[in-house]
Amino acid sequence: MSLLSSILYPAPRLHESRLKNRFNGRWVVVTGASHGIGEALVRRLMHYGANLYLLARSEPELQELCREARAMGCRASYRCVDLRDRLALNSVCGDLAKTLPSVDFLFCNAGKSICRRLVDAADRLHDFDRTMDLNYRSMVALSLTLLPALRRTGGQLVYTSSVSSLYPPAPKWSAYHASKCASNVWCRTAACEWHSLGIGVHVAYLPLVRTPMSQVNPNYHALPAYSAHDAAGILLRLALSKHFAYKPWWAWVTAPVASFLAPFVRFFYQKAAR
Ligand SMILES: NC(=O)c1ccc[n+]([C@@H]2O[C@H](COP(=O)([O-])OP(=O)(O)OC[C@H]3O[C@@H](n4cnc5c(N)ncnc54)[C@H](OP(=O)(O)O)[C@@H]3O)[C@@H](O)[C@H]2O)c1
Repeated sequence: MSLLSSILYPAPRLHESRLKNRFNGRWVVVTGASHGIGEALVRRLMHYGANLYLLARSEPELQELCREARAMGCRASYRCVDLRDRLALNSVCGDLAKTLPSVDFLFCNAGKSICRRLVDAADRLHDFDRTMDLNYRSMVALSLTLLPALRRTGGQLVYTSSVSSLYPPAPKWSAYHASKCASNVWCRTAACEWHSLGIGVHVAYLPLVRTPMSQVNPNYHALPAYSAHDAAGILLRLALSKHFAYKPWWAWVTAPVASFLAPFVRFFYQKAAR
């Protein structure tokens, strides 16, 4: 790892024994479990002895993860679902409420990014519907369904957001940015309302992570990034902390500065978008 990379993306510090204590035998629901950050999270959770309920569309990957988890002594099941499909999501929510013995942690991690100029999306309203349904609505639906179960255990909801949603909106990212910002605001409200119920709500504003999602964009290949394993570590650490949010250290400084300078940032983007 280069010096710049290790400064901007320091490895998360984790106490393995604490993680094992807190996750061993607990029921954990993970969305977007089949690839990228979700897959890495599931692998870490099985190592700590968690019981798993996995959601995504890719059946072979989910099957294999469940097989590995069971071989390590965990209980594990999965449901293949397109979380953008409202009827399918309703049915999953019904199943979860009826069949899960308990829920201690809900990681809402499934997500999709779209990078497209609005002028090229004139006949693509579905881009916005789908991004919103996956990145925002499925998180709300699952959280509301599992609210009674989380309340019984004093459980934790962790949402995987993006550090980009802390900065002034950039061209081409309207669908992704809007869906992440909607989720951030919803989680902030839930954190206030559910504190007295004993439920923790957390948002991880992750920076660039090397996964199938980010690798689609060649502009990101040369940039420093977290591995999916480290990003999963950040989510686990946040789930056990009292903090509402994780942000990379540099975002604490640069995001407020960028907001203060928003008119100049917009001017720059207007020039760049021509
Ligand atoms: N990678 C980054 O640089 C980065 C940075 C900040 C935040 N994030 C956020 O981190 C989360 C995970 O991203 P990632 O980088 O790990 O992406 P990824 O490698 O593309 O994985 C996305 C996961 O979401 C699932 N998914 C996608 N569409 C779905 C759908 N319609 N229904 C159900 N599941 C669906 C995928 O499974 P199937 O294809 O099997 O359905 C996959 O398991 C996302 O919320 C993303 O916005 C990523």
